[in-house]
Amino acid sequence: MRFVSEKKLDQIFIKHFSEHEKWELEEELALGGYGKTYVIRNKIDKKSYVLKRLRKKRAKSKEAIACFEFEQSILRELNHRSIPKIVEAGHINGIPFYIMEKVHGKTFDDLIFQEGKSYTFIESVYIVRALLQIANYLHRKNIVHRDLRIPNILTNGDQLFVIDFGLATKSDNATSSNIENPKKEASYVSDLWGIGHFFLFLLYSTFEPNSTKEKSWHEELPLTEDAKVFIKKLLMLETPFESTEAAISYVDTKLLGGKSHVNV
Ligand SMILES: Nc1ncnc2c1ncn2[C@@H]1O[C@H](COP(=O)(O)OP(=O)(O)O)[C@@H](O)[C@H]1O
Ligand SMILES: [Mg+2]
Repeated sequence: MRFVSEKKLDQIFIKHFSEHEKWELEEELALGGYGKTYVIRNKIDKKSYVLKRLRKKRAKSKEAIACFEFEQSILRELNHRSIPKIVEAGHINGIPFYIMEKVHGKTFDDLIFQEGKSYTFIESVYIVRALLQIANYLHRKNIVHRDLRIPNILTNGDQLFVIDFGLATKSDNATSSNIENPKKEASYVSDLWGIGHFFLFLLYSTFEPNSTKEKSWHEELPLTEDAKVFIKKLLMLETPFESTEAAISYVDTKLLGGKSHVNV
């Protein structure tokens, strides 16, 4: 591929779709480490979709291209209402791209940090339970997402969505006893670890510190012992859950079963 800058590549994509009979590029969404996303409109069904392309600086790396293809192959294996489906894929100027359904919702990153939204304990538990169910769908298919973070989880107010399968992998069925780095592991524990951190982001959205002293989450968040144990098991600070189903059962019996959830 001849040398072109990221900006030039944008222009090439814009030009390509300006002459397209089916698609119309609408706006730029985000520039990440690996890819760039745009909103693209289908002139036939009049709906918006999201186009994701590889970044220029990654397009020369065989490894990055293979990862981008793997991301697509994983998405094509999935059929879940909370995960966008690929509708088309191709190359423009040697740069691979794919087009997927657009989630009509906002990321938890935007909701918490741009809009200042806050979640009560019980709301947070229900959100985490919904996320565990999506993760369980993946894990039953031996797929691990490995990047369940607030910019990759969206909601429209009553449903959750998971995007960005750029770090997803097939599970190697490692058991929780031989995990070295939970963040990167090709095992369900990696997603539970991500969900533990995600839960903390939700819980911190209502937290107002009354001291300037830095404390850890278990010292400063007003949580029951059951809630603390739940988070510690997710974060592998205590014996981890044996499966994603076990984490869901814990939510149902210990966090949603009782009446009093928060020590205030
Ligand atoms: N299917 C989608 N629907 C709506 N927004 C999306 C979709 N895919 C990506 N986005 C938006 O684009 C951003 C970047 O996409 P993502 O797949 O997470 O790429 P990256 O690998 O660069 O993080 C997301 O944080 C989200 O705001
Ligand atoms: Mg992302």
